[in-house]
Amino acid sequence: MEFDILTIFPNILDSYFKETIIKRAVKKRLIQIQMHNIRDFTVDKHHTVDDRPYGGGPGMIFKLEPIFRALKKINRRKKSKIVLLTPTGKQFTQQKAKSYAKLDQLILIAGRYEGVDARVEKLVSEKISIGPYVLSGGELPAAVIIEAVARLIPGVLGHEDSAKSDSFTINKEYLEYPQYTRPVKFKNWPVPTILLSGNHKSIELWRNKNSKKARKKRKK
Ligand code: ADE
Repeated sequence: MEFDILTIFPNILDSYFKETIIKRAVKKRLIQIQMHNIRDFTVDKHHTVDDRPYGGGPGMIFKLEPIFRALKKINRRKKSKIVLLTPTGKQFTQQKAKSYAKLDQLILIAGRYEGVDARVEKLVSEKISIGPYVLSGGELPAAVIIEAVARLIPGVLGHEDSAKSDSFTINKEYLEYPQYTRPVKFKNWPVPTILLSGNHKSIELWRNKNSKKARKKRKK
């Protein structure tokens, strides 16, 4: 099985993957892990990966285009999924790990900053959180998921190890409203015009409404 990680810190997980069962699984060619530096897919001279949020507010939003370009460059296997790692995603469970273990390829996008331009939804199969808490980026969650999935692949664990584990049942997660940054038009996926209005009251109302909507949607 192949794991691809999109990140701006392509070396951050090196030491972890070079130890433990992951190392053994790679050596036995049961899994393959490839890191892709999102900055390599920027086109400006400063290699910009983030920008200010439309509608205002603190923090920076991860831009969509470098992620789009990086994904285009990755060779896709037959059974493949693209997953965005975010605290606003669906809770990762043992059940989910089992379903991922049946794939040929899992592509994991590790976001940073205050979030990723919400249009990333158009590019991914699903959004996944490893738990109801906020980390500074998706790199550690990517490692968590790879570990949980890899140990379910036949041959990865010695037979003295047990691959059985309980799945999480509690799913109380903090949810944010969708965020957008430049460009205002990408493909035919527009930024909601209300966020360009400069009307803070209506922006706040829109965000509250969409936060609730997202929560409902996630519960399905
Ligand atoms: N990025 C930041 N926090 C995260 C979490 N809890 N799960 C997945 N990705 C994240």
